[in-house]
Amino acid sequence: MRVVAVWTIKGGVGKTAAAVNLASLSALEGQRTLLCDLDPQGAASFYFRVKAKVKGGGRKLLKRSVELQRLVRATEFENLDLLPADFSYRRLDLDLDARKAPEGRLALKLAPLAGEYDTVFLDCPPSVSLASESVLRAADAVLVPVIPTTLSLRGLAQVRSFARKVGRRGLLVLPFLSMVDRRKRMHREAIELCAADGGFLRAAIPSASVVEKMGIHRAPLAVFAPSCEAALAFGLLWRELKARIGNSG
Ligand SMILES: Nc1ncnc2c1ncn2[C@@H]1O[C@H](COP(=O)(O)OP(=O)(O)OP(=O)(O)O)[C@@H](O)[C@H]1O
Ligand SMILES: [Mg+2]
Repeated sequence: MRVVAVWTIKGGVGKTAAAVNLASLSALEGQRTLLCDLDPQGAASFYFRVKAKVKGGGRKLLKRSVELQRLVRATEFENLDLLPADFSYRRLDLDLDARKAPEGRLALKLAPLAGEYDTVFLDCPPSVSLASESVLRAADAVLVPVIPTTLSLRGLAQVRSFARKVGRRGLLVLPFLSMVDRRKRMHREAIELCAADGGFLRAAIPSASVVEKMGIHRAPLAVFAPSCEAALAFGLLWRELKARIGNSG
């Protein structure tokens, strides 16, 4: 089982869009896939038409005695399950803090799922917190969407430094360009800086209204626009990600 977190400090940069589209591509390939919606906003749960409600809320989710599998819901897609969000996750930090060794709690909760899933995606809220620390300890890789602007690049530097400090050994930090608009000079200039960085994946997700329409269709691109430029870019991102995280086992 491979655990891929989609996380960065910045909000509204395409984390959920990436988590939802990558999870659907993984499932379409026949990989047993779980998407954990860790964001009280519940956007990933919304896209997959699963009610954003966990019985007992975040506090129950973190209990040692509660099997995560009991909280998981099936989606309309074969091979794709979802752990819905709950609005109580806004207090996840406080709930974690009340536990022993809170940084390791998410990894502990996910471990029993190793035989059930090939790939687990974590759609994370935009913050840097105890919950993020727990995510970085549980993940094999963290995908970091970066809009090509100066502030996003600054955010990436903060993510890298935090991941070095608290992430599990061997954690891969994989930034990729998100919401790219090459008509904007600032984007073109920032893309050059990203290319010079050397650590970016090659896939670049274009800024495209079809991605926003996922909210209307309540479905990933693979369902209603599988050949659009953005869907192809997510396809490339998925192939690169697989190559980096290796086959699950
Ligand atoms: N490639 C894209 N092109 C155009 N719009 C996009 C793209 N990706 C995401 N969006 C839109 O931008 C908004 C934010 O996207 P998304 O929810 O994926 O970001 P996020 O990083 O998960 O946000 P948050 O930090 O609030 O969780 C949404 O309205 C979404 O439809
Ligand atoms: Mg999100």
